[in-house]
Amino acid sequence: MAFVLNAEILIKAVEIFEIKKRLSELLPKERYVHSLAVEKVAQELALHYRTHEEKAAVAGLLHDCSRRYDGEELVKKAEEAGLHLDPVQRFEPKLIHAPLSAYIAKEEFGVIDPEILLAIERHTVGAEDMSDLEKIIYLADHIEPGRDYDGVDIIRDLAFKNMDEAIAQCTGSMIKELLERGLPIYPLTVRTRNFYLLKTLKRKKEHGR
Ligand SMILES: [Fe+2]
Ligand SMILES: [Fe+2]
Repeated sequence: MAFVLNAEILIKAVEIFEIKKRLSELLPKERYVHSLAVEKVAQELALHYRTHEEKAAVAGLLHDCSRRYDGEELVKKAEEAGLHLDPVQRFEPKLIHAPLSAYIAKEEFGVIDPEILLAIERHTVGAEDMSDLEKIIYLADHIEPGRDYDGVDIIRDLAFKNMDEAIAQCTGSMIKELLERGLPIYPLTVRTRNFYLLKTLKRKKEHGR
C-alpha cells in the first residue's frame, strides 16, 4: 500500500517544524527547552480533555516567544507594540511577557487564530471564565516537568482531574508566595483565583467532591 500523507496534516507538521526552528534560534536554550515541555504537556491535556491538539501545540510552543527580552526591554517592546501597562507590570516587567508573546506570535509568527492568541496572552495570571485551550496552556506552563514549587505535584495531579480546581490551587500558591516575599499581586491573579475557587467550592457543596 502506498504511503499517502494527508495534505493538511503535512502542512501542519511543516508549520510546527518551522516554529520550532525559529524559536530555537530566538530563545535562550533553557527557555526553548521549557517551551518544548509546555508543548508536550499541553498536547497531553488537550488529548485528555478532547480539545484541539494542534492549537494546544502551537500555543504551548509560542507562549513564551517574547522571553528573548527581559526587564526594561520588555517595557520598551510593549510600549512600541501599544500595549497598556499597569503599575504592577511596570514594577515586575516579567508580567508583560504573556501579552507581548501574543503580540509577537501574531506579528512575527503569523498566528491569526484568536483562541491561540488569547491562550498565550493569559498563560501567566489566567483570567475569569477561560476556554479549555486557555486553561490547558495556563496549566501546562505551571506543571511541566521542569517546574518545582510548593504544591506542584498536587496541581499536576489535579490538572488531569479537574482543571478549574487545579487553577484555583495554582493561583493560590502564586499569591501565597508573593505575599511571603512581600511583593505586589497583579489584580487579575486575584480575580482568576476567586472565579475558579468559587466554582470549585460550589461544585463540592452541590456534589460533595
Ligand atoms: Fe510565560
Ligand atoms: Fe512559560
